[in-house]
Amino acid sequence: GMPLEVAIESLKRGEFVLVHDSEGRENEVDMVAAAGLVTPEHIARMRLHGGGLICLAIGPGLASALGLRYMHEMLSESPGFPRGMIMGLAPYGDRSTFSITVNHHRTYTGVTDRDRALTISEMAGLHGAADPRAEFVSSFRTPGHVPLLMASGGLLEERRGHTEMSVYLAGAAGLAPAAAICEMMDAETYTALSADKARRYAQDNGIPFVDGRELIEYAGVR
Ligand code: 5RP
Ligand code: CA
Ligand code: ZN
Repeated sequence: GMPLEVAIESLKRGEFVLVHDSEGRENEVDMVAAAGLVTPEHIARMRLHGGGLICLAIGPGLASALGLRYMHEMLSESPGFPRGMIMGLAPYGDRSTFSITVNHHRTYTGVTDRDRALTISEMAGLHGAADPRAEFVSSFRTPGHVPLLMASGGLLEERRGHTEMSVYLAGAAGLAPAAAICEMMDAETYTALSADKARRYAQDNGIPFVDGRELIEYAGVR
């Protein structure tokens, strides 16, 4: 099938895809796996081969059902917090999608591969819960070791970050619209892994590589 369909099929099988946003934006490549299918092995691979921050991107539906808000909003309403510290627009023009950090209550420290996989897969499981908010409140603790990223309400129509792209892809795979994502770093240059190097990694490991521009076209957003 087409490159995008191949990537979506990989996500369905619980396999990674790599997503490059664009040269004009972060110009970063994230490892992406459907949150509901994340195992400790995925976390280990993201640590070892990605090396960026392992986050959970969630869709706007779940975020609002859980009553989550952006960290920059919460801090700006927190009395006495130094407003000048709060991140406005990043140098590439977007606002951060960070919300709170969480651990599932059955984790120990929260940071191990097993713990982070449990937190991420249980968060994805909230999609099927009768009362997601009640289960969230009773089963998760904050602060924790998994940063939550909230996708924009209009998804790709509104923002073209890895947050929206990964949530879109998980949804397109017919899975819970949530994804574990981690930027790929380069330990030779101490910078983000170039798109060229990431493409080579993808090829060597049989992982689909998704170009942000192609994804926008496939999604049919202008
Ligand atoms: C969290 C990040 C990453 O860039 C991640 O890809 C999500 O951000 P964005 O949606 O802006 O691409 O900042 O580590
Ligand atoms: Ca970023
Ligand atoms: Zn990103």
